Amino acid sequence: MGSIIDTYTEKFRKSSELYDQGHSIVPGGGHQSRVQKPFPYFVNTAKGSRKIDVDGNKIIDYMMGFGSLILGHSHPVVVEKIYRQIQNGTHLGALSELELIWGRKVKDLIPSAERVRFTSSGTEATLLAMRLARGYTGKKKIIKFVEHYHGWHDYAIPQSGLNTEFGIPKDTLSSTVVLEPKINLIEDYLEKNDDVAGIIFEATGGHWGQFPLQNPTFVMDLRKLTVKHDVVMIMDEVICGFRMSKGGAQKRFGVIPDLTTMAKIVAGGLPGGAVAGNQKIMSLLSEKNGVQKMFHPGTFNANPVSATAGIATLELIAKEQINHKADLAAQKLKLGLREVLHKREVQGHVHGVSSIVHLVLGVEGKESDEGVSDVSHSELARATMGNIPKMLKLAFLNEGIDIMGGMGFFVSAVHSEDDINETVEKFEKVINALRSDGVI
Ligand SMILES: Cc1ncc(COP(=O)(O)O)c(C=O)c1O
Repeated sequence: MGSIIDTYTEKFRKSSELYDQGHSIVPGGGHQSRVQKPFPYFVNTAKGSRKIDVDGNKIIDYMMGFGSLILGHSHPVVVEKIYRQIQNGTHLGALSELELIWGRKVKDLIPSAERVRFTSSGTEATLLAMRLARGYTGKKKIIKFVEHYHGWHDYAIPQSGLNTEFGIPKDTLSSTVVLEPKINLIEDYLEKNDDVAGIIFEATGGHWGQFPLQNPTFVMDLRKLTVKHDVVMIMDEVICGFRMSKGGAQKRFGVIPDLTTMAKIVAGGLPGGAVAGNQKIMSLLSEKNGVQKMFHPGTFNANPVSATAGIATLELIAKEQINHKADLAAQKLKLGLREVLHKREVQGHVHGVSSIVHLVLGVEGKESDEGVSDVSHSELARATMGNIPKMLKLAFLNEGIDIMGGMGFFVSAVHSEDDINETVEKFEKVINALRSDGVI
C-alpha cells in the first residue's frame, strides 16, 4: 500500500494537471474554498449521492454543495422545473410572480419570517441583516462569536476561521465585536456597552456545529438577553435552514429571532440567499412617505431560475419526509463510524445535529441527545487543526468518498443504505491508511 499522498497523486492525476494549468488563469489555481493540498480535484458530473471526477473516479459525496443539496445532486423534479424556466427566460428585467411564490414558501416554513428579501448568496444575506440591525437600532456594533462563519464580507471576517483580515480597514473591523459564545460574557458585554445593534450567530455553533452550542439552552438564553437589551438577534440559518427541521433551527429549538439569514437549501442548490424577519425591521427596505430609507438592489437577486429551484426544493421539503430521511441516514452513519472507532481502538468521537455528522479524531467525547459534543471548544479546535483532517480528507477520497472540511458529512435524503454501509466499510480502510502513514 502506498502512502496516502502517493495514492492520491496516482488516482487524481488529471486533476493535478488541470490544477497546474489553473495557476496561469485564476489566482490560486482554482476557487479558494475548493483548493486543497497537495492539489484539488476536478469533478465533471454529479447525480444523486455521487459524483464523477475528471479521472473517472466515482465518489460518494458528503460535500453536497457545501450543504446546499439536501435533495442530492440534480434532483429530477428540481431539474425539470429549472429547465422549463430557463426556456421561459433567465432574467425578466421586471418583477416576477416567482419571487412572491418563493417568499410565501419561506414564510410557510420559517416561523420568524413575516417578510422575506432575497439576495444572491449567504454572504450578502448576513451583510444585509447587519445593515438592517444597524439601521433599525441606530447603533454601530455587531457581536459575533469566535469561529462562527457568516461569509466573506468585511464585517463577518473577524475570527471566522478565515484567519486573515488583510485588506479590511481597521475602522471597519472595529465595528465587529468577537466574543466567546458564553452567556455570562455576552451579558457582561451588553451591560457595559450600549452601542450594540445586533448579535449574529450560527444556530448550532461555529462551522456548521463543529464547535457546538449547548442548545436549545444557549439559544433560549441568548434570546432573553437580546430582548432585555434591545439588540437585534440574527440567527444565521444559511446551513441549518430547512435542515435542522423543515422550519430550520429556530423551529427545532422553539426560538424566534428578529432576523434570519438563509442561503444554500433555500435556493435549491443554485446561487441565492434570503433575509427574513419581523415586519417592523424588514419595513426599512420599503419606501415610506416617498422615501427609500435603505437600499438593497442587485441584478440577480430573486432571479427566476434560483426562485424556481428554491420553490421546487421547499415544496418537496414541505410535503415529503426529506428531513426525516436525511436524519435517519445520518444517524446510521454516526453509529457505523462510532462502531469502527471502537472496534479499531481509534481515539475519537462522532457528534452532530440532524443530518450533519462531525467525525473528530484524536479527542474522545460523547454526544448529548441533541447531538452536542461534550468536548470543550479548545480541544475541538486542536482536533480540527493540524494534519489529521487534511489527511483524513485525502484518505477518504482515495476510497471514493468526499467529506466536508476534512471531518464532516452533509447527509442528504438520497444517501442510501448502500452509500452509508460502503462509507462505514471504507472508513476501516481509511484508518489503515492513516495508521500506516503514522497520522494517527
Ligand atoms: C453559516 C453561514 N453563513 C454564511 C455563509 C456564506 O454563504 P455564501 O457562501 O453563500 O456566501 C455560509 C457559507 O458556508 C455559512 O455557512
